[in-house]
Amino acid sequence: MMMTPGNDQWITIHYDGEPYKVPSGRTMVSALETAGVRFVRSIGCRGGVCGACTAFYRTPEDAQLKSALMCQEEVVDGMSIMPMPFFPQNQMSYDLELPKGMTPQRQVMQLYPEVGGCIMCQECTRICPVGIDVMGYVGMIKRGDFKAAAEASFTCVQCQACAARCPARISQPNAALAARRFYGAHMVNRAEHLQKAREKVNTEDMKRGFRRLKRMDAEELKNLYQRRESEPAQSAPGTWLPEDTTLLG
Ligand code: SF4
Ligand code: SF4
Ligand code: FES
Repeated sequence: MMMTPGNDQWITIHYDGEPYKVPSGRTMVSALETAGVRFVRSIGCRGGVCGACTAFYRTPEDAQLKSALMCQEEVVDGMSIMPMPFFPQNQMSYDLELPKGMTPQRQVMQLYPEVGGCIMCQECTRICPVGIDVMGYVGMIKRGDFKAAAEASFTCVQCQACAARCPARISQPNAALAARRFYGAHMVNRAEHLQKAREKVNTEDMKRGFRRLKRMDAEELKNLYQRRESEPAQSAPGTWLPEDTTLLG
């Protein structure tokens, strides 16, 4: 077992059935890597957005099974962590074009009819590692309130922990993804500034610019990138605007 010197306090945790001495005050990923674990799966962005590092865990003080993104959650002495196994979920293929007379709501319920079988046990909400009210958005999908469902499920990292625990065999994240897609495709007003930006991509000016970029060597591209106009790292929200504001919404 590898250890690094320092002032860390060492605690013992179990990961995938094996005991490890790890430094306290670190995330599960960081602590386990310090102890020599090399993650080849159950790891991705390391920033709490991809959901790949989802794990279930228990602590000695609390018998309740919990879930966490291992790149975000701190280790606790005596905890047992088990990375979430991969198992395929019901994931439908579909076209965002709707057949004549079909509404987005009916389409999503046809794709994921099991949503109607929710028994409101709350297990999904309880287990979600990012604190989403999963049962709440399942209800919104059932009621056809896609605006609310899209907002409520927006921060979902698609980890599937909720689906793993659902007694009604609902794939909540996939149903929510479909609801967000159909909501975006059919129910939200088109963003005019995006349309303007798309049109601009096809102008002769823009094409000339692309041709110029393609002729540049790596050094010129690097310089151009470093000189680019960008938002300062530290600026209060709403205080910075680019020079060309014509494509802003
Ligand atoms: S809603 Fe489900 S899939 Fe999405 S983050 Fe929460 S537990 Fe993971
Ligand atoms: S776990 Fe399944 S059945 Fe229970 S509330 Fe969530 S969606 Fe409904
Ligand atoms: S590695 Fe992506 S959420 Fe943890």
